[in-house]
Amino acid sequence: MKTVTDMDAQELRERKEEFFRVLTAWFYAEHRKLPWRDLEKPNPYHVWISEIMLQQTRVNAVIRYFLRFTEKLKDISALADVPEDELMKLWEGLGYYSRARNLKRCAQVLMNEYGGKIPNDPVTLAKLPGIGPYTAGAIASIAYGIPKAAVDGNVLRVFSRLLADRSDVAAEQTKKSYTRLLDELLPYAQNAGHINQAIMDLGATICIPGGEARCSMCPVEGFCKARKLGIADTLPVKKQAQARKKEYRVILILTQNGRIFVEKRPEHGLLAGLYEYPGVAIPQKQWEGFVSGNSEKRALKAYESFFGELGLAAKTARFGLRSKHIFSHIEWEMIGLYVETTDAYDAKEWAEKDRYFADVTELKERFALPGAFSAYTSEFTGKRIDI
Ligand code: ADE
Repeated sequence: MKTVTDMDAQELRERKEEFFRVLTAWFYAEHRKLPWRDLEKPNPYHVWISEIMLQQTRVNAVIRYFLRFTEKLKDISALADVPEDELMKLWEGLGYYSRARNLKRCAQVLMNEYGGKIPNDPVTLAKLPGIGPYTAGAIASIAYGIPKAAVDGNVLRVFSRLLADRSDVAAEQTKKSYTRLLDELLPYAQNAGHINQAIMDLGATICIPGGEARCSMCPVEGFCKARKLGIADTLPVKKQAQARKKEYRVILILTQNGRIFVEKRPEHGLLAGLYEYPGVAIPQKQWEGFVSGNSEKRALKAYESFFGELGLAAKTARFGLRSKHIFSHIEWEMIGLYVETTDAYDAKEWAEKDRYFADVTELKERFALPGAFSAYTSEFTGKRIDI
């Protein structure tokens, strides 16, 4: 695997101070105003929460979540004590729920072992729950000005172009090699946190993907090898990830007297600890036959033992909304099976198993359901679920 050699980065090394000066001036004039950003006096808690939320979620989508989260949980101590279900509700829709659980775990470690403060040393940071090398570098540099790289997707793209480097940006080796280069250069910057954020903003607003880079607006155009060679639109090189596995699922929308059935998922695995409408995976070969035609009876059969366990019986059943959700490694193709149920249930016994018939308010305010089910949730609550 090719790595960035001294030759590749020679010009950048020689002109690093000028490069940082130009980039900093641009950043002060053009930076995105973001609620977790305070260039004068950054709040380490805000930096940490935002960086975790920004993993795999775009800036614009994160803003509302960030504001709601930090309004409810104002500091590390509040986060360390938050009940699990409330935490999941605050994270609902952001995906990758283990990130939220790690946040709480990390807050507890910070309270118990670090006097309630976020350390500034990237090596110490990277040992904390949920904090990898990227996040450690981002917190150390943005919150404390420590000269440490934070190489995310934007930074990979910007550097592949600056260096006209055709290494695969999906390869760990490429990230390591850019990290090493930035770790070497950042001590020459006035403020490493501002530089890291400037490169991220540059990647998000100017050095954008898809062969559309706005090079004529770029403050560091004169440092860019790809621009000089006229190959910016061919970079970065990114090897395609493996195709996602597709799963076909019948989602059971069980109702009784205007309430809808939800139960908690297991504590481990995909969407751990969130609430869900129960689902059954159907083999692909049977899927179309299963969902088309009048096969509700057959579908109910798939749930027979589950119904028995709940002590409910189906009054009416019909197939309804089809929907799709893409996770990182798997894709769900879903259809709702709407079942109006009869018979009494033992609410106390159900609660012990984290099973409920929830009304609209409870669905909005109490139970956290994954975004995968949002089509069904919105249908029931009668509106788009906004935060
Ligand atoms: N993406 C991830 N972290 C970011 C930050 N601090 N500023 C802008 N974009 C980001």
